[in-house]
Amino acid sequence: MLTMKLVVLGSSAGGGFPQWNCNCTQCAGVRAGKPGLQARTQSSIAVGGPYNWVLVNASPDILQQIKATPALQPARALRDSGIQGVLLVDGQIDHTTGLFMLRERGASLPLWCTDPVYDDLTQGNPILNVLGHFCGVQRNRVLPDGSAFEVPGVPGLRIRALPLWSKPAPFSPHREHNVVGDNVGYVFENIASGRRIFYAPGLAEIDPTVWEAMRAADAVLVDGTFWVDDEMIRLGISSKRGSEIGHLPQFGENGMLAWLSRLPASTRKLLIHINNTNPILDENSPERAACTAAGVEVCFDGLEIAL
Ligand code: MLT
Ligand code: MN
Ligand code: ZN
Repeated sequence: MLTMKLVVLGSSAGGGFPQWNCNCTQCAGVRAGKPGLQARTQSSIAVGGPYNWVLVNASPDILQQIKATPALQPARALRDSGIQGVLLVDGQIDHTTGLFMLRERGASLPLWCTDPVYDDLTQGNPILNVLGHFCGVQRNRVLPDGSAFEVPGVPGLRIRALPLWSKPAPFSPHREHNVVGDNVGYVFENIASGRRIFYAPGLAEIDPTVWEAMRAADAVLVDGTFWVDDEMIRLGISSKRGSEIGHLPQFGENGMLAWLSRLPASTRKLLIHINNTNPILDENSPERAACTAAGVEVCFDGLEIAL
């Protein structure tokens, strides 16, 4: 059976951990080497292997992530990469800025994204137009309707995009009135093994479509941005609630942990896209203990999950 896996390249939310300008207890703690705190880069995963991969989201930290992941590095030709194509969940800065770092490619970069994301990346933040002056992009349309597709070069991996509610980037004309396709989650299926992983780093609401995909998956990697909705307000860091920027908090009656507790015990449950303010980053915190007690894992950079 084809060996396939998912590698967490970056487990933190936008800003990373520590964030460059943040002096909160956790960011200061990780800088000072406080036990129980581990640095994390910004939101990205790779799926496939052993030599050919789909990069899912292109993080601002992509060069560091490639340095840390030998399977993505050039090995077969003078100019080469394990990255066969890039898939986007949305057009946010933390998921797209790394596209610039791939500009040295000899051929155009195969890219999969929905229409609203393509519009944002050619208008509000025209990254794809700029890349046209370098390697260029060969854009493939992602339909947010659950239809299956494959990325050439990564055989045996079936991919489906599901519509979900989160938020498009601030430069999107529909920031405050989402359209279908602004944000998607992906189901990755190893055709040979039948194993499935559901990935949604930004998820404000668990609707029936998302819930069905979560229940059908062997592992779920879902929004781990905030522990509580007013986390950044309490810390005096921002006036925004998590829900206002498209993230369902973990704690509370209808929080992510409550949802995850309703999944089968056999489902591997993991939080990803973790903001530097989230106390679950501290291995010694009661919030992390609550995750562990609930059978929920906190993703870290380099974590690998068999598919
Ligand atoms: C988000 O996930 O809400 C955004 O990526 C925030 C950001 O721009 O860093
Ligand atoms: Mn983000
Ligand atoms: Zn911080």
